[in-house]
Order: sequence, then C-alpha cells, then structure tokens
Amino acid sequence: MFMIYEVVIATKKDDRDNKAPIGVYFKDNKIIMHLFYGSHTYYNLLTEDYFSVNVVHPIELVKAVLEDEDDYLYYNKIKSKIPYLKNSYYVIFCKVIGRKFIEKNDIFGKSKMMIVEGEEIDRIYLKNLPKPYNRADGLLVEMAVIYSRLTNKNVKLNEKDKKEFISELNKYFSIIKKVGSLEHKKLAEVMLKEIYNLK
Ligand SMILES: Cc1cc2nc3c(=O)[nH]c(=O)nc-3n(C[C@H](O)[C@H](O)[C@H](O)COP(=O)(O)O)c2cc1C
Repeated sequence: MFMIYEVVIATKKDDRDNKAPIGVYFKDNKIIMHLFYGSHTYYNLLTEDYFSVNVVHPIELVKAVLEDEDDYLYYNKIKSKIPYLKNSYYVIFCKVIGRKFIEKNDIFGKSKMMIVEGEEIDRIYLKNLPKPYNRADGLLVEMAVIYSRLTNKNVKLNEKDKKEFISELNKYFSIIKKVGSLEHKKLAEVMLKEIYNLK
C-alpha cells in the first residue's frame, strides 16, 4: 500500500493557471496521481508536461477546491513557466513522463481516469512556518472531498448515498463550529451552501 498525500497540484494551459487538491503517491522515485475525467487538472495535464506539487496547510487544500484564482508565483528555470502557491511549505516541480487511461467503477459510478506519472526536476522550500494541528483541519478536508464528489457533474449518486454524505457533512460541521477558526467555519459554510443549492 502506498501512502496517499493530499497536495495542491498547480498547472497552466494557454496562460490560465489552475490549482486543485489531489491525492498523490510516490513510487520508485516517481510521483503518481489518478485524475478523474472532467477536471481542469485532467484537461491541462492531457497535453501539458509540467506541474507543481504544493505541500500546504489543509486550509489551502480546501481553498483550492473552491477557487482557481491565486497570487501564483512561477518557476521559470525552464521554458514553460510552472505556477506554484506562495503559501506552500515546499514545492516539488515535476515533468510528466507517463500517462495511462483507465476506467474505474465504484459507488460514484463509472469514471474515466488518467494516471499521470511525473518525475521531480527541482524543489524549493518556502519560508512559511507550519501551524499546529487543529481538529477542524482534517474535518474540513473531509468535507471538501465529499463536496467535490457531490458537485461533480460526472458523478451520479443514489438518494441513500447522497443522504449519508449530507449527514456526514453536518456532523463534521457541528464539530468545526466548536473547535475551528472563523476561516474554517466560513469555508465549511460556502461548501454547505453550494451543496444545499444543488438539491
Ligand atoms: C482532499 C482532496 C483530494 C482529492 N483528490 C483527487 C484525486 O486524487 N484525483 C482527482 O481527480 N480529484 C481529486 N479531488 C477532486 C478535485 O480536487 C476536484 O474535482 C477539483 O474541483 C478539480 O479542480 P480543477 O477542475 O481546477 O482541476 C480531490 C479533492 C479533495 C478535496
């Protein structure tokens, strides 16, 4: 079993920068991610050969699922500029060395996926200090995972699974309200609002 690390993948295509939280793992010195068809990250990495792996505070993972805008910085030691996040703890810059296309079948239905393999070309350590862990961090990320599934147009869920996810969201939110910061609460509310608007 490989450990999956939640990071923000930043990519660029046609002068448009993009960021998304993605689970990655490391195997034989390669960094690997499984991308669901339909996201900007999938679309960009279908043709673009460079990306940045941003190791960030959990709040940044959640912000990345909600918006693509950022005050991006750029790695420019190579011809293609690679966007990265100034709030990262550290950043690994990678070149795509392989793409595989598969189909996955789970409770979210049939999904087309692209497995992207990258190799590290460089890395930088930024001067951002890690923050102590707050219980709302993990819960907010769990909310973001559910949020990204429920708002994905390519995912069809039955009513029972949907109800279960919504009750999980409410449980996490009730704890976040007790232990989190105002920022945690606001981000949780943005996700809940959008999900309730879907129904
Ligand atoms: C913690 C977390 C991990 C995620 N991991 C993946 C992943 O491994 N592969 C994937 O395709 N989507 C993953 N997602 C969902 C994408 O981040 C989501 O679809 C996002 O909206 C894509 O953004 P984009 O369209 O800007 O690329 C994850 C979401 C979260 C919150």
